[in-house]
Amino acid sequence: MLPRTPYPRGSLRLRLNLLVAGLNLVFLTALTWLLVDSHRSSIQEEVEAAHRVTVQMLGTAVQTSPVFGPVPAVMVNFLQSLGRVRANEIRLYSADGVLRYNSPPSTYKAGRRAPQWFARLMQPRLAATVIGLQGARIEIVPDASRAELDAWDSVSAIFLLGLAFVAVLHMALLWFLRRLLRPTEADARRLVATTQELAENREVTRLIQAGIEDERKRVARELHDELGQSVTAIRLIATSIARGGDDGQAAGVAPGAAKINEIAAGLYDSVHRIVRELRPAVLEQPDLAAALADLGREWRVRHQDIELLLELEGDLGDLGEALTLAAFRSVQEALTNVLKHAAARRVRLAVGRHGGRLEAVVEDDGSGSAADLGGSGHGLVGMRERVAALGGSLEAAPRAEGGFRVRIVLPLPGDSE
Ligand SMILES: Nc1ncnc2c1ncn2[C@@H]1O[C@H](COP(=O)(O)OP(=O)(O)OP(=O)(O)O)[C@@H](O)[C@H]1O
Ligand SMILES: [Mg+2]
Repeated sequence: MLPRTPYPRGSLRLRLNLLVAGLNLVFLTALTWLLVDSHRSSIQEEVEAAHRVTVQMLGTAVQTSPVFGPVPAVMVNFLQSLGRVRANEIRLYSADGVLRYNSPPSTYKAGRRAPQWFARLMQPRLAATVIGLQGARIEIVPDASRAELDAWDSVSAIFLLGLAFVAVLHMALLWFLRRLLRPTEADARRLVATTQELAENREVTRLIQAGIEDERKRVARELHDELGQSVTAIRLIATSIARGGDDGQAAGVAPGAAKINEIAAGLYDSVHRIVRELRPAVLEQPDLAAALADLGREWRVRHQDIELLLELEGDLGDLGEALTLAAFRSVQEALTNVLKHAAARRVRLAVGRHGGRLEAVVEDDGSGSAADLGGSGHGLVGMRERVAALGGSLEAAPRAEGGFRVRIVLPLPGDSE
């Protein structure tokens, strides 16, 4: 299973959903409005034309009707034979206001009407026309209800079709986006690796901070112990000389000065030693061979019971500060580990240039098989970090023939071999 991704893809998908839905809605509304507007003008024009023709035709009929007999009866006959006129209602009233004739309803889409709100939206701006004649009057009322129903059928069909199309489009787009946004397995693995790397970096930073604090405390202790006593002694002698001087006893001055000189010399040595410790020789002049030779000499003086074999190969004097320091510190930690964990009798330190790489091996004949590499130690982690920062690699494992072996390999800058 893929690990969960740490960024909120859900909310991104929701926002895309809303955006697509909004755009679709705007598109549908615009389309519907265009349709409604075009139908409205065509209804106005159609009903107006039909009304004008009807009024003209009935006007002519009214002028000729007296020739055929009593007006209302002749007109009723005429209108009955005429039947329904397109988009108009025709009513005939006698002089006393009695409805004598009403044109029949349209049989086209009989029994159906457009919804009231839609019909009101479409209604043409036309008034009824009244034609007066002797003993009667004809009312011609424009009737757009069929045209409105046609418009309603057409607009609602296109709207529903558009809605279905837009919905399908929306689904397809979201499906595509979901596929596009789904993190691949490689993405997820990269994220996990980056998260782990970050956690390790945090741990290394914490260790560095702790190391700095420890180092500060150690320097404070050294300064207090080495310098505090000497400076106090000098002050005491100086005070005593000053008192003796007041009493006129100048005899104590020479021994006092000699004592101060002696303490100052010791003080100088202490300062020198502290400075040397704070700035290891390897930083003063980045010559790995010289630094390792010093380390070997020191080892032989301090740890006479563990034999050190030192093998240096190739020119190690021009590796640059970063590489020299990384190699030196790694070797230092590996040797400290031999002292701490190995109970070894012999240790071999081999450092050399091989091709375009610097290789350093520290191996001992101690109790490597009991090594606890999954423990809470930070030495190997720090070494690995140092080496990785320079593009190198580190191996640390028990040896098959007994003991423990650490091997680091660092690429040499500018060496293309
Ligand atoms: N030369 C060695 N012989 C036997 N075991 C070793 C040797 N070097 C390292 N180890 C094992 O590897 C473990 C990890 O070493 P690492 O230097 O990371 O931690 P540490 O020395 O225990 O603690 P730290 O270095 O933080 O003071 C050690 O605890 C030890 O068990
Ligand atoms: Mg260690």
